[in-house]
Amino acid sequence: MRTNQPQTIYLSEYRVPAYLVDNVDLRFELFEDGARVHSTLAIRRNPESDAGAAPLELDGDSLVLESVALNGEVLADDAFEDRGDRLIVNSVPEQFKLSVVTWIEPQNNTRLEGLYKSSGMFCTQCEAEGFRCITFFPDRPDVMARFRTRVEADKTAYPVLLSNGNPVESGDLDNDRHFVTWEDPFPKPCYLFALVAGDLVEKRDTFTTCSGRDIDLRMYVEPRNADKCAHAMDSLKRSMRWDEDVYGREYDLDIFMIVAVDDFNMGAMENKGLNIFNSSCVLASKETATDVAFQRIEAIVAHEYFHNWSGNRVTCRDWFQLSLKEGFTVLRDAQFSADMGSDTVKRIEDATLMRTAQFAEDAGPMSHPVRPSSYIEISNFYTLTIYEKGAEVVRMIRTLLGEDLFRKGSDLYFERHDGQAVTTDDFVKAMEDASGRDLSQFRLWYEQAGTPVLDVADEFDAERGVYRLTVRQSIPDTPGQTDKQPQHTPFALGLLDEHGKALPLRLSANEQDAPVERVLELTDESHVFEFHGLAQKPTPSLLRHFSAPVRVHYPWTREQLLFLMSHDPDGFNRWDAGQRLAVDVIQSLVGEPKDTPLDSRLVTAYRHLVTDSSLDQALVAKMLQLPSEAYLIELAREADVPAIHAARERVLKHLAIALRDDLVACYRRNASGEDYAVTPEQVARRSLRNTALAWLLVINDEEGRELALRQYREADNMTDRMGALRALVNSDYESDREQVLDDFYQRFQTDPQVVEQWLSVQASSPVAGQLPKVRALLEHEAFDWRNPNKVRSVIGAFAGQNLPGFHAVDGSGYDFLAEQVCRLDDINPQIAARLVTPLTRWKKFAPAYRSQMKSALEQVRDKSGLSKDVYEVVHKSLAD
Ligand code: TRP
Ligand code: ZN
Repeated sequence: MRTNQPQTIYLSEYRVPAYLVDNVDLRFELFEDGARVHSTLAIRRNPESDAGAAPLELDGDSLVLESVALNGEVLADDAFEDRGDRLIVNSVPEQFKLSVVTWIEPQNNTRLEGLYKSSGMFCTQCEAEGFRCITFFPDRPDVMARFRTRVEADKTAYPVLLSNGNPVESGDLDNDRHFVTWEDPFPKPCYLFALVAGDLVEKRDTFTTCSGRDIDLRMYVEPRNADKCAHAMDSLKRSMRWDEDVYGREYDLDIFMIVAVDDFNMGAMENKGLNIFNSSCVLASKETATDVAFQRIEAIVAHEYFHNWSGNRVTCRDWFQLSLKEGFTVLRDAQFSADMGSDTVKRIEDATLMRTAQFAEDAGPMSHPVRPSSYIEISNFYTLTIYEKGAEVVRMIRTLLGEDLFRKGSDLYFERHDGQAVTTDDFVKAMEDASGRDLSQFRLWYEQAGTPVLDVADEFDAERGVYRLTVRQSIPDTPGQTDKQPQHTPFALGLLDEHGKALPLRLSANEQDAPVERVLELTDESHVFEFHGLAQKPTPSLLRHFSAPVRVHYPWTREQLLFLMSHDPDGFNRWDAGQRLAVDVIQSLVGEPKDTPLDSRLVTAYRHLVTDSSLDQALVAKMLQLPSEAYLIELAREADVPAIHAARERVLKHLAIALRDDLVACYRRNASGEDYAVTPEQVARRSLRNTALAWLLVINDEEGRELALRQYREADNMTDRMGALRALVNSDYESDREQVLDDFYQRFQTDPQVVEQWLSVQASSPVAGQLPKVRALLEHEAFDWRNPNKVRSVIGAFAGQNLPGFHAVDGSGYDFLAEQVCRLDDINPQIAARLVTPLTRWKKFAPAYRSQMKSALEQVRDKSGLSKDVYEVVHKSLAD
């Protein structure tokens, strides 16, 4: 906990480490009342440092120091200084062994950083700075060492003892205890260290690599989860094959392990050879996990596996470079998911996340560049900007270089930097060197925060047959950054004639065989592009595939959007046009009288989607999702949430009434007879069916109600069961709602991952998630303050998804969140700092809401003993 002003860390103050650690020898004695950690470090002066014979400084956090020895000699008390967060040894030789013994209490560790206990097992989380909670160590990623780890524990309670690398020795000890020793041959930063001890079942498989090596694949889970491993294991094997095929990356150790843990701050962690997962991101069966969960698991298993190269073999020099590994790895997992399913659908999902949540982050008080230049608490920088925008930045490099040169750049990067801790600049340099392209201006994407805006205007010169497009780029000011330079941006587009035919894009009058899609490169503040040889003014299809993470402003007419929605050869932009049309219609109704007529062309367009089964059904399933409230808020200047909610509901109800019979037909047409499988076709079918159901219940349709109740009862998979449950929960059929919620809990109460879904379907519902109900969920036997998933399922779902509930006019939603954040800050600061996010957007809302949000933030600010995690977020949000 904080005692004085937290300190800001600056990239400009980076210095190479004064000492390096070549080898780490660890011995863990695990007990019920604590753990003793014996660490021996082989240390030497860093030849690249100018610190000379400076004192040795090691990081520590919440450690009880038992002894320190140098080259085997126990040090006297005046030879070192234990400052709590730092161990300083004043005089050390050029090269030496330092042995440190510390005592820690995993059973009381509720922050879930370092070594802690989760449902009876010991596990670790060391990224970013958790290793210092285990023992004193230079806890920074540019110190890479070989680890040897001996784990000792009770043999009955903890039969499985795991760490990184290969098991090299094991045996029995006195008092029914045993040990296993692990050795990791690859030097790694301490944030990739992991240890697991528990009573776990093992699931085995094998993978033969491209060079013919057999890799032992193992999953470790609690016995009750033994039948929920198959999907993750299959996903792992697909990931391993894909990384060989697409990036030429082969796995390097002989064994690869995955462990599922119930209490976990994030999704999963890429520890070398021993990935640790949040149970909800790895365990699945068709009865307990939805299609969305199956797809998320596949993506996260891939993400963590891909880190073995992009993150572990080549790691980050310092935490300002976090996007070096995260941005690149998110791009890699997105490519993988696209290859496993539908490219267009995956792109729609990613663009939606960017435009809804990352753009909001980038326009808020915590806005930061992909490579930040300062932070107070690094845990607060595991953001959508680092991950998702970081991935978009690497994707743009790929777009600019083309597939082949990008692969050359990636090969060069891995070859040149294997075993090193490097910077985002090193990554870009490898791309430049392999391709011969100059990316100096492109580097601004890493340095400047804020979402660029492209203002597009067009005119047609009928006499010359020339279509002229003007594109102006501007980047808004963000905290600490003004007057930004234009960024090098790939801008993909096409032009359509009045029949929807793709026109050749001739940049000069005599160009032959011009392509029908181009990637224009924007480098200046303003560009004029001329397209020749056109008979009529075309309809532009702009920023295809979301070719850059920017906002595009162009004065689309509704006719143009309707036209693009049904004719654009690019599926992504067909979806985009539909979204823009729906946004325009909803926005025009915000704050208008209830009897304002609704544009009938919207109904016609949606009827076409619901009835024409010759269309790509996966795309249709996406196109039928109206823009979310969160997205509408992001687009608004001063958001009035109840008015936005009402306008969106009106459109939804209007469509549902007009299309009622078509929805019933769509529901019946998409009834599935075949065995459950997570194929793009089946996923689309279930999604369409559940959308039809949801829409029917929004208008209290009696047949819809019967269909929902039957689907709930007869479902053989969670997607169908949850679809029906959600539709009923969001309907006005109150007694049905209570009945199915009860039934659902009775059925699944012993399965935490399903109970999480049960909590969040209620807390996120504007109908079922009234504040008293949400408070009652916090008192429910299934709720657990120490479990981040449960906290997110109730408090996170309420504040992040139940927007009418959270933005209640009396400010009660804000006070509720402030109260829970304060409570959580004492338990788990990382989670508290994440949960407070919705309040930090206070400047975005209409004045009445704004002031109440601000005072809720002040409540949190004034809490005594505030963690530096929450301190940073709250102070930055209240600044100026
Ligand atoms: N490196 C992890 C990933 O992206 C992220 C992560 C997992 C993490 N657990 C964490 C980051 C705890 C900070 C704290 O896959
Ligand atoms: Zn990652």
